[in-house]
Amino acid sequence: MSNVLLIGNGAREHVIAETILRSRHNPVIFSYMKSNNPGIAALSEKILIGDYNDLKGIKKFSRDCNIDFAVIGPEDPLNNGVVDSLREMDIPCVGPTKSLSRLETSKSFTRELLQKYNIPGNPAFKIFSSMEGIDDFLGELGEIVIKPDGLTGGKGVRVQGDHFHTKDEALQYCREILEEHPYVVIDEKLEGEEFSLQCLCDGKTVIATPPVQDHKRRFIDDKGPNTGGMGSYSCEDHSLPFMNLGDAAEGLKITQKVAEAIHKETGEYYRGVMYGGFIITKDGVRLLEYNARFGDPEAMNILPLLKTDFIDICNAIIEGTLDNLNIEFEKKATVCKYVVPKGYGLPEDHPDAKSTSDKIEVDNVKDAKLYYSSVDNREDGLYMTTSRAIGVVGIAGDVEKAERMAELAVSSIKGPVDHRPDIGTKPLIEKRIDHMKEIKEAERVNKNAK
Ligand code: GLY
Repeated sequence: MSNVLLIGNGAREHVIAETILRSRHNPVIFSYMKSNNPGIAALSEKILIGDYNDLKGIKKFSRDCNIDFAVIGPEDPLNNGVVDSLREMDIPCVGPTKSLSRLETSKSFTRELLQKYNIPGNPAFKIFSSMEGIDDFLGELGEIVIKPDGLTGGKGVRVQGDHFHTKDEALQYCREILEEHPYVVIDEKLEGEEFSLQCLCDGKTVIATPPVQDHKRRFIDDKGPNTGGMGSYSCEDHSLPFMNLGDAAEGLKITQKVAEAIHKETGEYYRGVMYGGFIITKDGVRLLEYNARFGDPEAMNILPLLKTDFIDICNAIIEGTLDNLNIEFEKKATVCKYVVPKGYGLPEDHPDAKSTSDKIEVDNVKDAKLYYSSVDNREDGLYMTTSRAIGVVGIAGDVEKAERMAELAVSSIKGPVDHRPDIGTKPLIEKRIDHMKEIKEAERVNKNAK
């Protein structure tokens, strides 16, 4: 029997909890959450609600619960050094130390790591600690992406054409970043289709899980502001319809090299999840960013398909024996849709913007899976708490069936909610395929003209 500490309170941690409990080792879950997720609470022996920066509180809870190892869901506790703290008590973790989680928390660290160890995948980029040289660099590039160096809850990255248009606006945003952060990273803007590759890593061996495509924009047809992710899909052949055979392999190769490089750089083995956000461009696969954890929603696509015992995987990550494990996933398609408050992501002056904390009712979701995220289970019922509320997942033999299953589940959640009906549908997936074809065709024409 294993006593597992699970840190986190989102839908990602709800699916992690469910996956832990499928183990043949009869694990028991003790959950440390920022707010009470009823789905996780129902699967836990004991819960404690507290801040992710209360490392003393987390240590005491772990001692009281006789924890064998911990699984860390979100980036904030990683960035606060929870793994380092638990290690002081000889509690091993699935999740990197504070230093290694710089892979996610410091965009400059990751870009420089790839550059120093000659790992392919970086776009043209430069890191600045002052405004000196930024103007000249902007003159060298076409469109750009500006990133603060540090955690910003997914809100810091600004893309030219979407969030700003002119050079003056770019310079102004760089100035604002440098007032709060030590560095600003400027990347060349890449055009292509994105995929998430969540890799399991014990520091030496890196194993890819099936690729997933997330949908960050709030509204149908990829309109509106960026969100944490409105939903995602994966395919039964463990590829994505716009990918070539080698694309996921390329992402894995980059991640394997990064695992080796980060060990050389720090002397520490990275034990946890290395989730690469990749983009397939006219020149091949490029790295947008790494996250030091499972994706949310992407964890909901891959973990329900996992055939291998998750506790065996956690032990192998901790002991450095992932190379001995055959990790398998069911050959099924998945479509995840997030149900959100109607006002989620809307500008403050929008008439619906206030409706983010209303009551909802969940009927029978039939064959779909349901994972709670930002909800509050009060005496008089279930309330949303401003952010993404519930993830529903359809799992079937193909994406079309999985999408229908997810849609049916969405319709069983009643209240002032919204979701993206287009995620996982044929027209949207065909748009992705056509986009990729156009990019490759333009490159072919361009090369022939030279
Ligand atoms: N799906 C985006 C993230 O987990 O950061």
